[in-house]
Amino acid sequence: MEMTLDAPLDMHLHLRDGEMLEIVAPLSAKDFAGGLIMPNLVPPVTDLAMVRAYRKRIEEAMGEAVFKPYMTLFFKADYSPAFLEEAREEILAIKLYPAGITTNSEGGVKGFDLATLSPVLGVMSDLGIPLCVHGESDGFVMDRESEFIPVYERLAGAFPDLKIVMEHVTTAAALGALERHENLYATITLHHLYITLDEVAGGLLRPHLFCKPIAKRPEDRAALREAAFKAHPKVMFGSDSAPHPREAKEAPGCAAGVFTAPVALPALAQLFEAHGALENLQAFVSDNARRIYGIEPPAKKVTLQKTPMRVPAGYGEAVVPMFAGEELAWSVARAG
Ligand code: DOR
Ligand code: ZN
Repeated sequence: MEMTLDAPLDMHLHLRDGEMLEIVAPLSAKDFAGGLIMPNLVPPVTDLAMVRAYRKRIEEAMGEAVFKPYMTLFFKADYSPAFLEEAREEILAIKLYPAGITTNSEGGVKGFDLATLSPVLGVMSDLGIPLCVHGESDGFVMDRESEFIPVYERLAGAFPDLKIVMEHVTTAAALGALERHENLYATITLHHLYITLDEVAGGLLRPHLFCKPIAKRPEDRAALREAAFKAHPKVMFGSDSAPHPREAKEAPGCAAGVFTAPVALPALAQLFEAHGALENLQAFVSDNARRIYGIEPPAKKVTLQKTPMRVPAGYGEAVVPMFAGEELAWSVARAG
């Protein structure tokens, strides 16, 4: 059995920099036609020289594959209208992190005071630059996303023309907010479709499945699956593939992030097939993102076949993917 995807897109992707970029960029570029590149480098991507230089480093690391890196800026409340006007040509979205909530987010937003954020959000709305948000409070870890929903709703209500993407949603409650505000959208990761907190910490602790937001309850996963399997029109695939060196994951203080880029399409095909939803995979991994972001990715066909993929124990020796050492039912046969 085979299926060919037209220009699959990963609308939430961490490619990192330096040696890690060299290892992971070719893996995304092989299987996907494009991806939304997260700006949480050290220091974060906050000006256009940084955007251009990072894009160039990505393109150099990618090799010959057809892949469009859709760039983002790290949200700052003091961006000027003139800067944003110029930035619009170079980026697809701006990513907002609450300060200190996840990897390299120390320079993010504190307090979510609308008066402070409004000047930049107003200009973004006028210019048609979408806002992507890591929506977590600093509360109890299982409640962080649901506690943040009122912030999403406040932003969505105050800027009805601003497209706001709730990144990596993990709860049924967040999906509920999609129905209340026309301008809210969401990405869903591979790992949150597969796992609950049980897989992370219910048995032996599995550091390679530890991420932010943490995987939640079975009923949350069921809601995510339902939205993905029917390719809810406001939902897109965003892997949040977030590689860390093995020693940062297998450590007393484990870094947050699941590295899924090289297994994403085979694992999605396996899951969608198991739930009789293969016909909606194209919309979930490409068409919805094209419509929501108004993008036309480069021409690329990626053919998946039902031939097992043995997932490597690691890439570049030091980066461990989800499903390391396991077999997936599907593999990527060819792409180009
Ligand atoms: O698990 C995560 N890892 N969640 C994030 O929000 C950031 C990411 C990273 O950059 O490592
Ligand atoms: Zn992320």
